[in-house]
Parts: sequence; C-alpha cells; structure tokens
Amino acid sequence: MTETNRAAWGSKLGIMLASAGSAVGLGNLWRFPFCTAQNGGGSFLIIYLICSFTIGAALVFTEAALGMKVKSEPSDAFGWIHPRLKFIGGLCILTSAIILPYYNVVGGWILAYIFKSFSITSIKNFGEAFTDFSSSAFEPLLFFYAYMIGTAIIVYMGIQKGIEKFCKIMMPVLFVLLIVLMIRVLMLDRALEGVKFFFLPDISKLNGKTMLDAMGQVFFSVSVGMGVYITYGSYVKDNTESVSRIMWPVVVLDVLISLLAGLTIFPAVFSFNIPINAGPALIFITLPKIFASLPFGQFFGLIFFIILLGAAATSSISLMEVPVAFLCDRMKFSRPKAVVLFTVFCLITGTFTSLSFGKLGEFKIAGKILFDQFDFLASNILLPLGGFLTCIAVGWILGSGKLVVFNNSRLQKSFEFCIKWIAPIAILLILLKGIELI
Ligand code: PHE
Repeated sequence: MTETNRAAWGSKLGIMLASAGSAVGLGNLWRFPFCTAQNGGGSFLIIYLICSFTIGAALVFTEAALGMKVKSEPSDAFGWIHPRLKFIGGLCILTSAIILPYYNVVGGWILAYIFKSFSITSIKNFGEAFTDFSSSAFEPLLFFYAYMIGTAIIVYMGIQKGIEKFCKIMMPVLFVLLIVLMIRVLMLDRALEGVKFFFLPDISKLNGKTMLDAMGQVFFSVSVGMGVYITYGSYVKDNTESVSRIMWPVVVLDVLISLLAGLTIFPAVFSFNIPINAGPALIFITLPKIFASLPFGQFFGLIFFIILLGAAATSSISLMEVPVAFLCDRMKFSRPKAVVLFTVFCLITGTFTSLSFGKLGEFKIAGKILFDQFDFLASNILLPLGGFLTCIAVGWILGSGKLVVFNNSRLQKSFEFCIKWIAPIAILLILLKGIELI
C-alpha cells in the first residue's frame, strides 16, 4: 500500500495551503451567508463557531493523522483500521461524485459572471438576468464544461506542480482581495446594521433546524467527512511535525474567511435595504446589483467574482483528488487515465444538475430538483455520515489514543474525548434530525 515513489508535497506550507484551499470555498462565500441569513444571523453564527472548533477541528485532525500514517487513499486508510471498514472509503468517493457535479455547476456560473461583470452596469433586472442565465441550456453548460476541464488540468498536473502551486498562489490573493472588498463595503452608509445582524444573536431563532443547518454547514465548509485530508495527509513525506501544528491554521482560516464573507455581504445587503433572504441566489443577484450602483462597480464586481473563482477552484481540485487517488492507489490507474475517467463522469452528471434549473426542472426527487437534492444529500446526510463513521472507526475500533495529533497531553486527551464521545453523539442526533426521525 505504501509506495516509495508516491507523490509528495514540496513543503509543510504546501499541504497547509492546499488543505485551507479545500476548506475555503463556496461553502464560505456562497453557502455560509445565505444559511446564516435563513437562520437568523448571530445565533447561527455562534453554533457554527462552536461546531467548527470542536467537531470540525477534531475531524480535520483525525483525517489528516490517518492519511499521514497509512499514506494511501481513504479506503486503504479505513481498511488499515479494520478490513471491514474499507467501505467507508467507497462512501467518500460517492460523496465526491455527488458534490462535484453541482459544485462545479456553480463554479461555471462564477466563471460566466466574471465575464458578465464587465457589462454589469447595463443589466436592468438582476433577478431576471440570473434566472434567464441559469435556466438556459447552452451558456451555463458551456461555462460548467470550461470550469470542469480547468479543474481537471490542475489535478492532472499532480500534487506539487498542480495542486500545491495553484493553492500557494491563489490563497494569499484571495485573502487580500477579500479584505479590500470588505473595507470598501464597510464604508457604505448603514453598513453597521449588517454587522449587527451578523453578530447579535437572536435566541428565539435557536432551534433544531438551526443546529442541523449549522452542523451541516461546518461539515461542508471545513471539508470533512469525505476523506479529503486523508488523501492530502497521505502525500506528507515525513511525519516529524505534530498533525495539529500543520492543520490548525486550516480550521482558523476557514472560519476567518467565513467571517470576512459575512462582514462583506451583510453590510452590503443592509445598506441597500435589500431583502436578506434571497437564498442561494444571494451572490448572483443581490451583490451584482449592489456593485452595479457603486462607483467603479465593474471593478469591485470583478474582484468579487475572481475571489469566488479562486476559492471554488481550490476546493474543486480537492474534491477531485479523492476519487483520483482511489483510482491511482487502489486500481493502479495512471494519473492521466484516472483524471480523464472521473472528468467524463462529472461532465455527464453535471449536465443533468445544470439542466435541472431549466429543461429538467420538472424532474424532481422528493420534491427537490436534482441540484438541490444533491446539495441536501451531500451536506446533510453523506458528509455527516462519513464523519460519524470516521469517529466510530477511530474512536472505538482503532482507539483514538492510537492517533497522536497534539504534543500537549491535555489537548490530546480532549481530542480523544471529542472523537470518541462528543462528535459521534452530536453527529448522530443531527443526522436523525436531518432525516426527520427525531
Ligand atoms: N469546503 C468546501 C467549501 O467550503 C467544499 C468541500 C466540501 C470541498 C467537501 C471538499 C469536500 O466550499
């Protein structure tokens, strides 16, 4: 299972930024704002923060530690714990095969909006423009294919020359641009009201649904439950550094970018007195409308969509690396063959998710169009299920003490307690709630 000529990161910073790149994505900039808005602002934020730094962080550490130890893709890693657990690796591939075809459709929309931002001031009705665009057949598909192939090329170029290099450039650029945009937005009139909505908790809005949504958001946002960090961890050459030292910045950066996104989007929305509950279309309708009315709006609109593109791309490549690593490690495919195979699969399934906004809109599964069903299935069921099984495998079957992630023994003990008790119980409750059993 361990190959001596296995690909490896060029540096510790490489794995750190690639992992942060996986975590920071549409989850922070697109999903987090509308989930927060739908769940009453500050109260959602508190649960999100608590879950990120406990369950989210513990799972990031666990996955990375497993990958660094076994040095292979997820099904081998779980198979190392117990041969019967190999199926969890299969679940990881399934999850990636469900997320990529809708995630990359949004990636395609972003690519299209980069071009649209040049003519942003000529758009009359942003809602109509977005609906017309997303429900048409040709344009979104074209941009989805372009985005998908771009992702595939980076993965094809490999760990060091593709993923590491791309993330090392993209992550700092993204951070700086987001800060520039946030400062501009915070200078708007009435921006403070948005800040208040974001930070002030409204206890009456705290209920089971808020908790479920917050937990689902954490899983999606830090990218746990589908073996991304097992895969990325498997490319670490020497295990001299403690896992938490390498991985804690990933969790912190992920939360920080969500906070920056909230501090950019809510003040903008409040200062223009726009209804906050636009849902998933928030960043494609509400924000372009706001940018269009600002001086140099085209420029700020362009910056915004470049930030989104960079964030989405570094996550898409991690989603793709999981099945590619499986095909290479387990099935002994060459990297090019694995990339081509999985890309073709995603191009086909993504065509259906993209068309579910238009021509295939009538086709619904349990009342949801394909796109929404995939998002629900991935964030509310498959990722938490993957996380739950990881906790059981490591906390109960392997014994969490066997994975040392902290040098400090007190922190290590709290980690073990979290993986064995807190995380699985919390995830189980949330999962049962998700499928409406409690
Ligand atoms: N974390 C990514 C985001 O926030 C999405 C993702 C989920 C990536 C699961 C990999 C695995 O956009």
